[in-house]
Amino acid sequence: MSSSDMSQTNLDHQTEVKSSTKPIVKVEQVGQTFKTRQGNFVALRDIALDIYPGEVVTLIGHSGCGKSTLLNLIAGLTLPTSGVLLCDNREIAGPGPERAVVFQNHSLLPWMTCFGNVMLAVERVFGRKERKSKLDARVHAALDMVHMAHAAEKYPHEISGGMKQRVGIARAFAMEPRILLMDEPFGALDALTRASLQDELNSVLAKTGATAVMVTHDVDEAVLLSDRIVMMTNGPAATIGEIVTVDLPRPRDRVELANDSRFAEYRATVFEFLYRKQLKKVA
Ligand SMILES: Nc1ncnc2c1ncn2[C@@H]1O[C@H](COP(=O)(O)OP(=O)(O)O)[C@@H](O)[C@H]1O
Ligand SMILES: [Mg+2]
Repeated sequence: MSSSDMSQTNLDHQTEVKSSTKPIVKVEQVGQTFKTRQGNFVALRDIALDIYPGEVVTLIGHSGCGKSTLLNLIAGLTLPTSGVLLCDNREIAGPGPERAVVFQNHSLLPWMTCFGNVMLAVERVFGRKERKSKLDARVHAALDMVHMAHAAEKYPHEISGGMKQRVGIARAFAMEPRILLMDEPFGALDALTRASLQDELNSVLAKTGATAVMVTHDVDEAVLLSDRIVMMTNGPAATIGEIVTVDLPRPRDRVELANDSRFAEYRATVFEFLYRKQLKKVA
């Protein structure tokens, strides 16, 4: 099969999946206004977005446009001032174990080992119905998936930033969430560590078939990981400007893609949006 045949098959498959399944997350005409000392600040307006099971969606846009605000709404960490968000047809009224969050600054508890940190989340979700041995197995499997089994007994201060972020991802996956929410999870890492974690995330997402929504400001990262890239306009009153569907076959190999004209085209489309259509004056 030639590569163009393959991408066509992939495309057919995706179209099929979308038309035959219901969205797992629905964002309906959502707006978010913050009360500040200077008065009301409209952060988001008219956000409408359906996310389908197994999809990897990235949110991209200039700093301060409202990416985290939107992700926090899906996480249920904040509630919208207008509109409604649904997960599995139920209104999102707060955080839930079916929506695990990975933050940029790995929020590991410093007094617990990597194992302990992941166990905390596992116990919260499965602790009441499963035996200790089963819980242990879950933690080991999650650490193994991100190649951190060897550091299970280490404390956060004993491991690198990239390793901490791996544990954060393991903790999120260990909860077997329906949807994984990530806010610039690799933002604080050096380029090489970031690249290897992107590849790892890609393979873990493929293995688990998880749905993911990820905030990034890195164009290459967005194209490499996404099924769809949601490009947001600048704030205040930011909204979705354009959505690009990335029909590159999976698994995606970053070295091969570096010479792939389709990769370059997607990249150019996002750059065009960010730096021509939504150019932001730097203060
Ligand atoms: N709790 C809050 N109160 C007031 N303003 C906020 C609050 N949270 C975010 N904002 C404002 O909303 C806008 C979007 O913020 P944010 O979602 O963090 O942007 P991004 O993640 O895209 O960088 C910014 O102008 C920010 O200052
Ligand atoms: Mg942010």
